[in-house]
Amino acid sequence: MATIIPVASFDCVVFGATGDLTTRKLLPALFYRFQDGQIPGTSRIIGASRTDIAAETFRERARDAIKRFVPPQDIREGALDAFIDHLDYVMIDGAGEEGWAELTAKLNERPDQVRPYYLATSPDLYGPICRNLASHGLIGEKSRVVLEKPIGKDLKSARAINDAVGEVFPETQIYRIDHYLGKETVQNLLALRFANTIFERLWTADVIDHVQITVAETVGVEGRAGYYDRSGALRDMLQNHLLQLLCLTAMESPLNLDANAVRDEKLKVLRALKPITPNDVQQVTVRGQYGAGAVAGKPVESYATELEGPSRTETFVAMKVEVQSWRWAGVPFYLRTGKRMPQKLSEIVVQFRASPFSIFPEESFGREPNRLVIRLQPQEGMKLEVMTKDPGPGGMRLRPTNLDISFEETFKQRYPDAYERLLMDVVRGNATLFMRRDEVEAAWAWADGVLKAWSDRPEAPRPYPAGTWGPTSAIALIERDGRTWHEELR
Ligand code: BG6
Repeated sequence: MATIIPVASFDCVVFGATGDLTTRKLLPALFYRFQDGQIPGTSRIIGASRTDIAAETFRERARDAIKRFVPPQDIREGALDAFIDHLDYVMIDGAGEEGWAELTAKLNERPDQVRPYYLATSPDLYGPICRNLASHGLIGEKSRVVLEKPIGKDLKSARAINDAVGEVFPETQIYRIDHYLGKETVQNLLALRFANTIFERLWTADVIDHVQITVAETVGVEGRAGYYDRSGALRDMLQNHLLQLLCLTAMESPLNLDANAVRDEKLKVLRALKPITPNDVQQVTVRGQYGAGAVAGKPVESYATELEGPSRTETFVAMKVEVQSWRWAGVPFYLRTGKRMPQKLSEIVVQFRASPFSIFPEESFGREPNRLVIRLQPQEGMKLEVMTKDPGPGGMRLRPTNLDISFEETFKQRYPDAYERLLMDVVRGNATLFMRRDEVEAAWAWADGVLKAWSDRPEAPRPYPAGTWGPTSAIALIERDGRTWHEELR
């Protein structure tokens, strides 16, 4: 069993309390942490939103949300009632005056609590909410503000948000969430690289041929078309989640695990990304949009039908990215992410160079390269693909086999959702797994270059049928270099 260390008592105010993120992710995550005894009984979770409902109604909705998003076998007798008792609600206008006196009165009942303000609202409210928090005297040493993505849609808008929040909160009290950093396997990547000697020694251009990062989803835009169509796969997934995975894979060893030490190293990677220019954008990037098709045997509509009109927004992007540093010179990073793919799958594949010479006969496939596959979902774990001898007396034939660690099977425990870890880190004041301002801005500066290069050559995204791995040009992108996207060993 994992050791659970209770956090300090807190009052967490969730702005956007009736929204999708709160319902699907935040309330279930807080419930799990409460049930495991990590949240002290003197803590409160105060929902805040413009919806005019009584606290009792909010509690009922929260109860329904937990029953819907937490499997029944995970809910222990009495735990849900006990958790619901800690919930409260304030109707509030984040940008106006209404509701602030009530929130202030509630918070002032317990001035010594740690106070996370979780902004799960539209980003244009981040500045106004923060100004209101300041003008009502609600920011103290124990306050922290948590910002959900998207932090802007380009560098300029990200800076405007960061400036507005930075006017009232010092950087050390700002927690910018990228929930991929809260996934267990992502943290395991740090353990793998920096707590073992065997891999780090091989982590160089001399030994690694290339790296692939795939984040594939089966879902479409799920009622978020309004947001998604203004965003697209580059802004929604690649600029943040995939670049963060790239950073953790490519960064040098940090001095220690302190927030700034880790973030300094990630920032160097972001700054070393080779800009993508209008001249090479067609060679190194592919944009796609799903058409009608079938996912897991079920027919699904095209993006344009879901949107009720044509669109030039990409629901898939693949790219070849270079990190310009001594360690990574000449090692391409192939990134791809898309909606309506055949399966939900997130993985990082580190492919080592093939052995320089084979002593085995040609037909024995003796030169298949080794691959380290770090699987984020489903079935978090790691696999090392190695060549082994086919068993039996029939001569020396080789075949690739997995050295396999499935975390759930090995540790025999539920794997917590990323938000559970991240929410507790906010209360603890540990910002290691959150993005610093300069990181977010460096990621946007690079992504802006890609967006600009695309807009200079305005081509419609390539169509791909739902339930496939994207447009054929995404396969060509990697095959032009004599490589292929990773396929699971059977
Ligand atoms: C979010 C994106 O950040 O991540 C969504 O906005 C996406 O479009 C989601 O579906 C994927 O998260 P996960 O944890 O399900 O891989």
